[in-house]
Amino acid sequence: MRLVLLGPPGSGKGTQAAALARHFNVPVISSGELLRGRAAGGGEESRHVAELLVRGELVPDELAVTVVNEALKGAGTDGYIIEGFPRTVAQAEHLDAPPIDAVVHLAVPDEVARDRIAGRSGHGRSDDARRDIVERRLRDYHSETEPLLDLYGRRGVLRSVDGGQTLEAVTAEILRALDAHRR
Ligand code: AP5
Ligand code: MG
Repeated sequence: MRLVLLGPPGSGKGTQAAALARHFNVPVISSGELLRGRAAGGGEESRHVAELLVRGELVPDELAVTVVNEALKGAGTDGYIIEGFPRTVAQAEHLDAPPIDAVVHLAVPDEVARDRIAGRSGHGRSDDARRDIVERRLRDYHSETEPLLDLYGRRGVLRSVDGGQTLEAVTAEILRALDAHRR
């Protein structure tokens, strides 16, 4: 199972990736986690990445592509769940992987996304704490990432699910959508 999870900040990508990884027994490749790992290291590059993350700005495509493709090399052959990547059309073009089985879009209105992020702030993500930064992340999602929905829709791999339901209901809907997709 090779899956990509797409959705706005706060849509539940990380949460659903963990649930699906348990279900399919495959690893999660999270560009956000990988980049937060990079930011925590020492040196010039780490500082630069940390600054972008704090400001809620997308890192350059080249860096995002590099961290994800490196992780893919270590991912084994049973598949994986990629979440948070690709985030731009350019990143999609440089995903160094066999064809993805399905791209799951977690559809969540901005209002729900804001509420969820607000509910989580105080738990350590510096990009959650300021309203203007959350708004920038949402804006970037609409301008940079949403065009991917068209692209994957045309390729026939996109499945949209209602991400506004309970955690368990969203997981169940994803599994049903994947089932339908495979048939
Ligand atoms: P990233 O880590 O990907 O963050 P994000 O997209 O902003 O999304 P979040 O992690 O905030 O939300 P999520 O969708 O994972 O939802 P979650 O499961 O946590 O990226 C961070 C930064 O890294 C970016 O801003 C950028 O700077 C950089 N970056 C990352 N990838 C990049 C790339 N490819 N290119 C360039 N830059 C990149 O859920 C949110 C909250 O809601 C949690 O508290 C959760 O418990 C709760 N929740 C989840 N599901 C439900 C539910 N069904 N009902 C109720 N509550 C729920
Ligand atoms: Mg996340």
